[in-house]
Amino acid sequence: MRVLKKLFDNNRSWAEKIKESDPDFFSKLSRQQAPQYLWIGCSDSRVPANQIIDVLPGEIFVHRNIANVVVHTDLNCLSVVQYAVELLEIRHIIVCGHYGCGGVKAALEHTDHGLIDNWLRHIKDVYRFHQDKLDACADDKERLDLLCELNVIEQVANLCHTTIVQNAWKAGRQLSVHGWIYSIDNGILKDLDVCVTGPEQITAIHRLR
Ligand code: CO
Repeated sequence: MRVLKKLFDNNRSWAEKIKESDPDFFSKLSRQQAPQYLWIGCSDSRVPANQIIDVLPGEIFVHRNIANVVVHTDLNCLSVVQYAVELLEIRHIIVCGHYGCGGVKAALEHTDHGLIDNWLRHIKDVYRFHQDKLDACADDKERLDLLCELNVIEQVANLCHTTIVQNAWKAGRQLSVHGWIYSIDNGILKDLDVCVTGPEQITAIHRLR
């Protein structure tokens, strides 16, 4: 008996269901992928990229980590971005955070969470950049929600500062970086309206000539 049998059973019925509506679905997909979007989201089990925007396998390239952070020295995230931008030639990168993010919440605390505190420190930096606004929040919930939003906006900027995104723009490629946030409460996505489409929209110190 296979361990985690239920998951394998689920997989079989899922594949059958897809093949019923499109018998060639998997064979077509096995020959190539041509997604139009790169999704950078939180690892949270309640925020699954494909399901939230209701797209099939093959339509979105995905990188997830705790609290959807883009760190300039994270080889994992940078490799995903490079592959998506330069080889898959995707045109839209979406950073999608979510309200009530456990990673962001932990970053607001002063307790020891172990190794992960080193990751969450990047979010404490976001707090430091916007300390006045965050300190002025009426309560903890408002503060957490605002930090979740500001964290997305900061990661959009971090993406735009990478050599990968800037070189794509320099080469005349169309590439937009979007910041979205998802409500686990009601399943609705919100556009934070911070879309960046070119180097003239980023801070001067980060601009490559
Ligand atoms: Co989260």
